[in-house]
Amino acid sequence: MKKGLIITATTLLLLSGCTEDKQEQKVEQSTKTQVKQEVNVAVEQEKEKIVEEVKKIEEKSTDTQQEKKEEAKIDLKVEDTNLADAETMFKTCASCHGTKGEKEALGKSQAIAGWDKDRTIKALNGYKDGTYGGVMKGIMKPHVETKTPEQIDVLADFISKL
Ligand code: HEC
Repeated sequence: MKKGLIITATTLLLLSGCTEDKQEQKVEQSTKTQVKQEVNVAVEQEKEKIVEEVKKIEEKSTDTQQEKKEEAKIDLKVEDTNLADAETMFKTCASCHGTKGEKEALGKSQAIAGWDKDRTIKALNGYKDGTYGGVMKGIMKPHVETKTPEQIDVLADFISKL
């Protein structure tokens, strides 16, 4: 009987000892996996950081692209307004010079359609300060004296394309 008890006791001890060992192993393993996980997390975080950095750089480049597009749009708008301005301004001139600048105004001027821009600018500035023109130059003066150099430029450009 006693022997039997001792045997059972030792087996139990052994068994419990084994399980303890296993538990230790388990603990060891779980710490390993924990460390691995931590490393993984750290790596993932680094990756995310890099991805974000890349995104930021990409955003910046799209920003500059966007800016360039906006600039181009503004440029186009400026041209559009110039054209609109020129069209409106030329309506007054058209009553004498013809809608296409094809008429000899009051039978006295040359047909100005397609005149070189510089030639028109000189003529218009000349009418402004009285240094250009023929007998009817007084008729042209009120049409140019209030115009800014920009408006004259825009008009001359418009006439050169008629
Ligand atoms: C009331 C009629 C009339 C209007 C409006 C008028 N012009 Fe004239 N334009 C004339 C006459 C007339 C002459 C010729 C004047 C002269 O004796 O030099 C002339 C001359 C010119 C010339 C020079 C042509 C040449 O033979 O040397 C130009 C350029 C011109 N006009 C542009 C314009 C523009 C641009 C406008 C509008 C802002 C305008 N004119 C409005 C009547 C007009």
